[in-house]
Order: sequence, then structure tokens, then C-alpha cells
Amino acid sequence: MRITMIGAGYVGLVSGVCFADFGHDVTCVDNIESKVESLRQGVIPIFEPGLEDLVRANRKGGRLHFTTDLAGAVSNADVVFIAVGTPSRRGDGHADLSYVYAAARDIAKAMTGFTVVVTKSTVPVGTGDEVERIIREERPDADFAVVSNPEFLREGAAIADFKRPDRIVIGSQDERASEVMREVYRPLYLNAAPLFFCDRRTSELIKYAGNAFLAMKITFINEMADLCEKVGADVQKVAKGIGMDKRIGDKFLHAGPGYGGSCFPKDTMALVKTAQDHDSPIRLIETTVAVNDTRKRAMARKVIAACGGSVRDKKIALLGLTFKPNTDDMRDAPSLSIVQALQDNGANIHAYDPEGMDVAKDMMPDVTFGADAYSIAEGADVLVLVTEWDAFRALDLRRLKPLMAQPVLVDLRNVYPPDEVRRHGFVYHGIGRRE
Ligand code: NAD
Ligand code: UGA
Repeated sequence: MRITMIGAGYVGLVSGVCFADFGHDVTCVDNIESKVESLRQGVIPIFEPGLEDLVRANRKGGRLHFTTDLAGAVSNADVVFIAVGTPSRRGDGHADLSYVYAAARDIAKAMTGFTVVVTKSTVPVGTGDEVERIIREERPDADFAVVSNPEFLREGAAIADFKRPDRIVIGSQDERASEVMREVYRPLYLNAAPLFFCDRRTSELIKYAGNAFLAMKITFINEMADLCEKVGADVQKVAKGIGMDKRIGDKFLHAGPGYGGSCFPKDTMALVKTAQDHDSPIRLIETTVAVNDTRKRAMARKVIAACGGSVRDKKIALLGLTFKPNTDDMRDAPSLSIVQALQDNGANIHAYDPEGMDVAKDMMPDVTFGADAYSIAEGADVLVLVTEWDAFRALDLRRLKPLMAQPVLVDLRNVYPPDEVRRHGFVYHGIGRRE
């Protein structure tokens, strides 16, 4: 199969490289020249574990190509995936589909022979219809079908998620296109990943429903954590206790500073907007969005309380800035709101993140960035663990304590056992645990 991937970001690059690794001939197109040039040199513009080796191996195997020439890449393709961004539209929270529609127009102009155009980007219900309309308008003669194939990979575990998915959802009403999609995913379903076929609109909604449900599950346990703090219970054990019920499941019940990232925040908001537009509001998700938004700044209040009620002129050391570990993605990271709220209250922020600092430097003015956990802890009034990178899981507490002005640890990811931290002479504050 000759596959063209429009957009070489987190999803397009990972999907393209994995398809190549399964033996397809893949061309990844991006309109940022510097990105394409560095990919050609084997330099990966994002941090994603395992990706660099996979790119190198498939480049060597001659199955993976990078280009800015969309028309050239589309003209020979059997399948063209649209994997461009669909960020929140400024002002109203709807998904901004301008990149998807622009790509559709360019694809239309270039395609030859029967071509399957696949929306892999997360797009609201009805986008496939509009993509079809655009292509038809641009090229009334074209032989094509538009399919929805949402992506469910997580950053930081993207290659494993792509290669061993729980399911592959394909929204197609065209038998020829369905056959092509079966061929594209053959290596995966031979590997036991179920293909789930449905109509295009249903497929588009499955993606939003899935992300919204997971966001709601996280928000549920976060609110449960707040209650645990008030009534003297332990949210880790509540999560374990309910998670053992197979109907509930034990995943996505880890209480923390609120969900962030490039997808849950924008996708929950876009679903809320779609539902309101169709006079069918989803109040559970409206509430999820509101609760999660306020939670991030509430985490700053937790830090302020741990510092005795004021952080003015105090030194706060933050461990981890990205929205989760094993990524350099800072989009909608809870750290952004936490830093802003602490700075609003007069704090001096020092921070360290293993992979996110290059991006964070442009987003966080007046933050001092350090070389590791110990250097930022020097003279600090509180150490705040924001993102649970492995590198922060076994900190040398004996070494840390004498470095700090006050030995206080606010653990927003419940990484440390409170008793052990206290034994080392620290004051410990977790999430939803007995203080
Ligand atoms: P991204 O911003 O990392 O990448 C998008 C890329 O598309 C950019 O490199 C951009 O330069 C390129 N691009 C935009 N318009 C183009 C055009 N006309 N021609 C060529 N290139 C173009 O975005 P992402 O995180 O990969 O997300 C892409 C889509 O996948 C979104 O809809 C997102 O919701 C969805 N998604 C993302 C993830 C994730 O983990 N990031 C997971 C599942 C689904
Ligand atoms: C999420 C989904 O998990 C993917 O299935 C989906 O494809 C993707 O969004 C998308 O549509 O882009 P991702 O955002 O990469 O993936 O990361 P997650 O692991 O889901 O974490 C999202 C946020 O929730 C992070 O801020 C994380 O810290 C938080 N989280 C997650 C919790 O606070 N508790 C949990 O138990 C799980």
C-alpha cells in the first residue's frame, strides 16, 4: 500500500512510521520546511520514546519518506490520511477545522485514480461530510471515498499504543474504501487488534465520547480526592477498591492536578459545543470541563497553604512541567496555570523538567530553569512534584533536606509514601490522602 500522511506531528509521524514499520510505503508531508528537513536528517522534532530508532530503521529500509510536496505525495497514493491539528478555535471553543479543510482542498487537486481520504485528526461529527463536499467541489471528476479513522494513541506510549491498540475504529460507507482500510490495518489485526466498522458520523463521535469519558473518570477521582481530604480517607485506596470492580476498571483513576495535554481539554470543550449546537447538552462533560479548569489553580492554593498561607518572595521548586511524563508536550499542561497562580501571589519559581524545558522557556516568563531536581531545591521553601517523571520517583530525600530552606514536599501525583517522606523529616502533602 502507498500511504501518504498529511501532517508530521505527534499523530501523523507516529502513525506514518508505524505503518512503514509494518511494510507499507509511507510518505509523510508537512508544510513546515525545517521540520521536514530535520526529519530527513533523522532528527526528530518531538520527544517520543522509541521514535528516533524506528524512523532511522524505516528510512534505511526505504519505506519512509518526508516531503513538503503535498501534490507529489498525494498523486501516487492509495490512501491519504489527514493528521493535521484541530486546536480549539479562539473565542468559542469549537474545533478549528481550517487545517483539515485546507488539506482536503490540496488533496483534491492532486489525487489520481481511486483514492481513500481518511480523517485521522480528531474532528467533530459531520466533518467527513464537509471534506467530501470540498473534494467534490474542487474535483467533480474524482474517484474517491472519505473515511473516518480516529486515533487513540497516548503521547509517551505512542508506538506501543499504535501497534497494539484495543481497537481500530473505521467509519466507512464505501465497500471499496473499507477493503483498502482492511489492507492498511492487516498487520495489526493479524496481531489481534479488532477492527470495528461503523458509519462515518458514529466513528467521529466515538473519538470524542472516548476522550470525554476518560476525562470525566479522572475528574470524578479528583473530586473524590478532595472529599477524602475532608473526611480523612485515602483516595489511592478508594480508586483501588472501586477499580477492582470490572464494570468500573482500574485505569484512569489516578488523582492529580487535573488533566491537561493537547487533547482532553480541547476535545471535551469541542464536544460540549457540538452538543449545545444540537440542543442536546451533555451536562456531565460541561461540569467536567468547569471542574478541571478550576482544579489547576486550586493546586496553587494547596502550595500556598503548605507554605503557611503566603508564597510572597518565597522560592518554589517545581519538578516536572509537561502535562504528563515521557513527552515534551506543554500544550494545556497544568503547570502553566499553577505557575501563573503562584507568580500572581508573589512567588519566585524555579523549575526542572527532563524534556519540556525548551518549550516551557517560551511559555513561562520569569521562571528560573535548573539542571536537575537538587539544584532547584537549593534554598527552596517547598518542593512541588507536578509531573511524575521516573527521574523523580527515587529522589534522595537525605540529600534534599539540608539543601532546602524548609523541608516541605507537595506531591501532586501521590508518588511518595507519606510515612517514608515524613521519616526523613519532611512535611508531606499529597492529593486525597490523610494529612
Ligand atoms: P501537531 O500539531 O503535533 O501536528 C500537526 C502537523 O500538521 C504539524 O506539524 C503541522 O505543521 C502540520 N500541518 C498542518 N497543516 C498542514 C498541511 N496543510 N499540510 C501539511 N502539513 C500540515 O498535532 P497532533 O498532536 O499530531 O494532532 C493531530 C490531530 O490528531 C489532532 O486532531 C489531535 O486531536 C489528534 N490526536 C492527537 C493525539 C496526540 O496524542 N497528540 C492523539 C490522538 C489524536
Ligand atoms: C489521551 C488519550 O488517553 C488517548 O487515548 C487519546 O488518543 C489522546 O488523548 C488524544 O486524543 O489525543 P494523552 O493526552 O496523550 O492521551 O495522555 P493521557 O495519558 O490520556 O493523559 C491525559 C491527562 O490526564 C494528563 O494530564 C494526565 O496526567 C492526566 N491523567 C491521566 C490523570 O490525571 N489521571 C489518570 O489516571 C490518567
